[in-house]
Amino acid sequence: MKGIILAGGTGSRLYPLTKVTNKHLLPVYDRPMIYYPLNTLISAGIKDIMIVSGRGHVGHFLELLGSGKEFGVRFAYEIQEGAGGIAEALGLAADWAGAENVTVILGDNIFQDNVRKDVESFESGAKIFLKEVPDAQRFGVAEVKGSRVLGIEEKPKVPRSNLAVTGLYIYDAGVFEIIKTLKPSGRGELEITDVNNAYIRRRAMEFSVLEGFWSDAGTFESLLRASVLVQRYGICQGTAGVPGPESGVDPLRDI
Ligand code: G1P
Repeated sequence: MKGIILAGGTGSRLYPLTKVTNKHLLPVYDRPMIYYPLNTLISAGIKDIMIVSGRGHVGHFLELLGSGKEFGVRFAYEIQEGAGGIAEALGLAADWAGAENVTVILGDNIFQDNVRKDVESFESGAKIFLKEVPDAQRFGVAEVKGSRVLGIEEKPKVPRSNLAVTGLYIYDAGVFEIIKTLKPSGRGELEITDVNNAYIRRRAMEFSVLEGFWSDAGTFESLLRASVLVQRYGICQGTAGVPGPESGVDPLRDI
């Protein structure tokens, strides 16, 4: 299993912060944002990790992360030139990934759950991770029946469920063939939801519902929320190479 962090996009929703550095390097509580998805992959036992980033301040990634030695893993880097969407960014990793399965995580998604078991037991097809949320219309929304995913709608006005599709996906190498068949959506991007619906049509999609907290961090509100949740619950500690705070975080502390 290889890991891919998708850290593209222009970060326009976080302007002027993103004039200073790349969105994925902005602070979420006490660390740069990208440490959290990195921690999710490293805690799942993944050792080969590609970071696909956009153009803005891309040298800052190299300065911060280097070769991966400090984290006990190997990093590879790829650049997404335009704003062609999450699926386009993933497609850039095709040659590097080869015939391996890939765990893909969005660089602004912060997860409390450890998904090592899901990564280790994955065989083929695809797996998505769902989370019950109060504002499903902001996300991809999954309709499920028993253990089957019936379909995913991207940012529906009237969601069919409260299950958001989080930015964490496991795919077999067939994902890169699917990406080649995609057409840009209304917002001019290759959508990861279209990739997932292709697996659903083949009846090759599994899902898990996450128990721990999950937040994206791509807007001022969600960035603040992510920082508060991380401070309150404490994650990303004890990862090889990621220095932890001097003392533990008190989960009952008032923010
Ligand atoms: C993307 C995906 C969406 C998913 C979300 C998770 O949305 O398209 O399906 O729920 O990430 O953060 P975007 O952030 O591109 O609007």
